[in-house]
Amino acid sequence: MNVEKLKKMKGKEKIVMVTAYDAPSARIARDAGIDVILVGDSLGNNVLGYENTIPVTMEEMLIHVAAVKRGAPDAFIVADMPFLSYQTSVEKAVENAGKFLKVGANAVKIEGGEEFGELVQKLVESGIPVMGHIGLTPQFVNRFGGYRVQGKTEKNREYLLRSARELEKRGAFAIVLELVVEEVAKEITESVSIPTIGIGSGRFCDGQVLVWHDLLGLNPDFAPRFSKKYANLYEVILKALQEFRREVKEGLFPTEEHSFTDKSKGGVSS
Ligand code: KIV
Ligand code: NA
Repeated sequence: MNVEKLKKMKGKEKIVMVTAYDAPSARIARDAGIDVILVGDSLGNNVLGYENTIPVTMEEMLIHVAAVKRGAPDAFIVADMPFLSYQTSVEKAVENAGKFLKVGANAVKIEGGEEFGELVQKLVESGIPVMGHIGLTPQFVNRFGGYRVQGKTEKNREYLLRSARELEKRGAFAIVLELVVEEVAKEITESVSIPTIGIGSGRFCDGQVLVWHDLLGLNPDFAPRFSKKYANLYEVILKALQEFRREVKEGLFPTEEHSFTDKSKGGVSS
């Protein structure tokens, strides 16, 4: 996979993206034939235990992008630029984005609309492919005053359309549409030549992205309507840990087959 192949998928084949934050997950995503792995700054809420994505740092993101790269060396990896890693100056943004490419990302994603057009162009000119992200952009949660569906007013619809066209014009290779009403997501998708990748943005985007922990059901307290739980790994893991606990308490694990005696052969694998 590469940027050009991805662009050519528009109108021909749906693009499938999933977030992953570590090496074993990346390996599974790769083995499942997922087109794009996103190391999202949702790392903050899903893995690091933060309330939202605001506290996530470059250092944290870099560690996880590098881990994903080691787990899936041949995957197409997009890294999220975290809060304040690209908003303060073009120079800082290029430097930070470059760090992601140096640890193995193929592209970066930045949240923001038409205001970020010039920055997108600078990144692309520096050799750093950019995925845009408009609609509900969680790094702006304090300005939005909450997580709400976007594109509901005429003013916002026009802003989103202008933003998508601007991002395309400035060289973005794809755009994530997050929590955009379906009609507007469809209109955006039809009015740009680059692929749109939706989350909570209805049926008509060129691709879909889901968050690892949501689609695998790792958080029992979070079940947003736009996501779908393809598994309930919370239950699977809970049961496994309960079983392990019980077996140790009752003296059922380990058994002889898990144990070594002085007559055992040297190796530890089964
Ligand atoms: O960080 C993330 O997981 C994302 C996706 C929701 C697109 O940005
Ligand atoms: Na993100």
